[in-house]
Amino acid sequence: MSTAAADTPARTGAALERYYQFHSRIYDATRWSFLFGRESALMRASCVARAQRILEVGCGTGRNLAGLRRHFPHAHITGVDLSEQMLAIAAKKIRDDQTTLLRRSYSAPVHPDGKRFDLVLFSYALSMFNPGWEQAIDAAWEDLAEGGCIAVVDFSHSNLAWFRRWMGVNHVRMEGHLWPYLGQKFVPLLDERFTAYGGVWQYGIFIGRKQR
Ligand SMILES: C[S@@+](CC[C@H](N)C(=O)[O-])C[C@H]1O[C@@H](n2cnc3c(N)ncnc32)[C@H](O)[C@@H]1O
Repeated sequence: MSTAAADTPARTGAALERYYQFHSRIYDATRWSFLFGRESALMRASCVARAQRILEVGCGTGRNLAGLRRHFPHAHITGVDLSEQMLAIAAKKIRDDQTTLLRRSYSAPVHPDGKRFDLVLFSYALSMFNPGWEQAIDAAWEDLAEGGCIAVVDFSHSNLAWFRRWMGVNHVRMEGHLWPYLGQKFVPLLDERFTAYGGVWQYGIFIGRKQR
């Protein structure tokens, strides 16, 4: 019998906050070299979603907030993240008054007064919700207006055990677990995997529509 305390969203959240106290300082300088597909996901999402209200869950240092603003110049954009340090960097990049940042762990819907979103983006965030990824996808469903779209770009899986272990040290689960559940909850418009560094890992892009 294991005596280790089970992970809970609260424990994971605290561990992630500690992780990003350091990593926020090197995030923008380093992540371009392995968080692939982010621009492509935004471009594809902008083709299918005519969004007036957008939510990015786990917006981090705000790299995608600027991209979303380029694709959706008139939209109201909300970024949610649990890390104060990451959000402080994002806040410095915001150049308009139509972007709002919320500091919280995303485990329940955040839309105010029934004003649901037309597009919810998760960019390299869901693979860090361990536990809580299903709950976060369910919350996104609730946050989306009927006919709205979810866009996810994230690590998928790796056949290399040492690499999966290393990513686990960095709070990332790489077991291809996100895509089947996304495909059950949303009508898939795009569901593709791509190879990184000659096969060290696969990442994926999913775009789906909420339809009852
Ligand atoms: C790898 S970063 C991605 C940042 C940004 N989306 C990007 O593509 O550059 C993951 C972010 O998700 C946030 N995050 C992880 N779990 C979260 C949770 N349960 N609720 C809110 N944010 C979370 C982390 O604090 C971190 O800023």
